[in-house]
Amino acid sequence: MKVRFSASILGADFSRLAGEVHSCLEAGIDSLHFDIMDGHFVPNLTFGPLVLRALRPLTDIPFSAHLMVENPDFYVQECVEAGASTVIVHAEATPHLHRSLQLIRHKGARAGVAINPSTPLAFLPYVADVTDELLIMTVNPGFAAQSLIKSVIPKIGEASRLARALGKTISISVDGGVNGETIGDITREGADSLVMASAFFGVQNRRALIEELRGLVAPVSNPGRP
Ligand code: DX5
Ligand code: ZN
Repeated sequence: MKVRFSASILGADFSRLAGEVHSCLEAGIDSLHFDIMDGHFVPNLTFGPLVLRALRPLTDIPFSAHLMVENPDFYVQECVEAGASTVIVHAEATPHLHRSLQLIRHKGARAGVAINPSTPLAFLPYVADVTDELLIMTVNPGFAAQSLIKSVIPKIGEASRLARALGKTISISVDGGVNGETIGDITREGADSLVMASAFFGVQNRRALIEELRGLVAPVSNPGRP
């Protein structure tokens, strides 16, 4: 399976963001991921859609807004107008998940739903019609450079098989603690998109890292019936 790599700007050097974007492009990164945090839904504050908007003219690759905020519906339109092609809301942050996903599509973006490590997949069949991407958090959201929580790994496979059983094309993304040591287990479960902050921005030769990681992608085990 072709796995796509997304660089989380949270791990970049904020004193030189334009240079960091060029470094992502040079390394073969497929998309950029913007971790928008409000200090309420998660215990950290980052930035808003204006950073996404400022970097939008630098490249044509897709931008995703990962909204780790309460009341995410308030920010959907602004994110789309800033240039996000995917907007991701947390299932735990919106009481009307189906409506939030519908809103994102209505505004013209791909609709993504993120779930915390402890959140089960039970909701997925009921929103699959309006979901383009499921972002499985393998750390508790809020900070980069945390260790992947191993007990969440089987959920990636369960999500991948569930989407297939539902007959839906839903991208299965993984966010948190993705690196050379964890990529095999993550991709074996069927993830098709990987978000990275610290593992990517923490190395000098980022192009070599992405090439190395592509070589560590494992074949999917037990993909389920087509
Ligand atoms: C965590 C964010 C992640 C984070 C990933 O709350 O959603 O996108 O930046 O960082 P790493 O790759 O360092 O775990
Ligand atoms: Zn994220």
